[in-house]
Amino acid sequence: MSSAPHPSRVSPQVPSQVSPPEFAVTASGPHAVTGVEVIALPVLTGADGPLLGPGAADVGDLLGVDLLAVLEADRATGKVGQVTALPVPLGSPQDADLRQVLLVGLGEASATDFRRAGATLARAVQDRSVVATTIPAVEPSVGLEPFVVGAVLGSFGFAWRSAPPEHVPVQRVVLAELDDADRPAVARAVAVGGASWRARTLASLPSNLKNPPWLAEHAASLAADAGLEVRVWDEAELAAGGFGGIVGVGQASATPPRLIRLDYTPRKASRRTPTVVLVGKGITFDTGGLSIKPGEAMVNMKRDMTGGGVVMSVLAALADVGCPVRVVGLVPAAENAVGGNALRPGDVLRHYGGRTTEVTNTDAEGRLVMADAIAYAVAELSPAAVVDVATLTGAIKVALGQQVGGLFASSDALAATLLASGERSGEPLWRFPLAAAYEEKIASRVADADNAGGGPGAITAALFLQHFTGGVPWAHLDIASVGDAPADGYEWSKGPTGFGARLLLDWLGSDDPLAGLAR
Ligand code: BES
Ligand code: MN
Ligand code: ZN
Repeated sequence: MSSAPHPSRVSPQVPSQVSPPEFAVTASGPHAVTGVEVIALPVLTGADGPLLGPGAADVGDLLGVDLLAVLEADRATGKVGQVTALPVPLGSPQDADLRQVLLVGLGEASATDFRRAGATLARAVQDRSVVATTIPAVEPSVGLEPFVVGAVLGSFGFAWRSAPPEHVPVQRVVLAELDDADRPAVARAVAVGGASWRARTLASLPSNLKNPPWLAEHAASLAADAGLEVRVWDEAELAAGGFGGIVGVGQASATPPRLIRLDYTPRKASRRTPTVVLVGKGITFDTGGLSIKPGEAMVNMKRDMTGGGVVMSVLAALADVGCPVRVVGLVPAAENAVGGNALRPGDVLRHYGGRTTEVTNTDAEGRLVMADAIAYAVAELSPAAVVDVATLTGAIKVALGQQVGGLFASSDALAATLLASGERSGEPLWRFPLAAAYEEKIASRVADADNAGGGPGAITAALFLQHFTGGVPWAHLDIASVGDAPADGYEWSKGPTGFGARLLLDWLGSDDPLAGLAR
């Protein structure tokens, strides 16, 4: 008998996507760089009006233009987000290719201002070939990394059309008036921006392509490129290994579940080098299961693997940020589908390690798969800390809106560290309590816990997970609030955000990520 694949199993081919710009560093001023289509100069908000930053005097002289007068004519103040464009139709005496000078607001030149100026510039120079800029030269120690991250993420795009993309990112950004000593910071920022970019792309892919086996194959190819070890459990190995949560959630799907493990070992590791475990929710589509979601609530559920995509992207970038600790990334991947073999309300699951859960709502599936992975981490990997990232509850979105992520932590030191990384990297978190008073909400009459005890929904979900952490310092990022951006805004593009990649790389790329934590 012939075995033609069922049409729904024929994966479409993703067209090639736009890439982030390349970055170059030069000590020269922007007026002296040739082959540049756009020169972008910073404008700061001064007490007596806007101030032009480095390189502006030379550019003004070269073109014979009073750039301050240009700002005044445009009523520009130097506020972040402002761009004043000066056309240069015939090029400059130095560079026949020059077409435009952009005066870009940098506000008070805080790290956030630099990130936003980078993203603003990226949007202003899309479809251009080369832009030279002195914006980060205003204060490289504060601004270089955030500027580059902003310029990468402001360039992000994803499309699956028959025609080529309407707009493409600028090909090259020349960072002028910097030193060779600034190159490592650029490389680091490119890695951080690239990790967020990758996480956004993964969350953007539709679920007719991105099923659990596809995600596992993608992880294996990432691992090969980044020098990580990889192990994947298939559905039979998951059943044999006792991963009842992952198996249960995945059992109704035509594409079976997987558990993905990626291991990063720092170059200078010794036997005493501690291990951090990152766990990312990898639900490749969430219908809700038999407790099915209404249509509108299902529309964006291809991105219910955002946490898993963030963990994979972070693992792939750890070497580039010089992470000094071992990191294991775990992604429990399953499609929460409906079918004759679906989990039913009332079913009881046995998780890795033996704890049982009564499934009163099949739409509270994230915690079921996360529990197995956390229990495995604690039992097998002797972690110094476990951090999980999950689009876990609609309740966190009600509480925080779409600009702040939810943080729960069993360790004040870990919470403080992650809050600081969130602030620094532009992915802010707000800490919620693991209030023991609500434990009774997740009590079950038949099992160790009920998976959907009710409100407060984000807190009861976190309490459910905490039972699997075995007292290891643990933090839980509920990113259901911030997984999707409602509109373009600075470094955010409408749609999947990859929220968490920047803050985790800020943390794990620091000199001592476990400082202050009991070991
Ligand atoms: N994936 C959803 C959470 C979600 C909601 C993510 C909105 C992004 C945007 C999760 O699996 C879910 O369905 N949670 C339920 C839990 C409830 C049934 C206890 C929820 O939050 O409604
Ligand atoms: Mn759900
Ligand atoms: Zn979900």
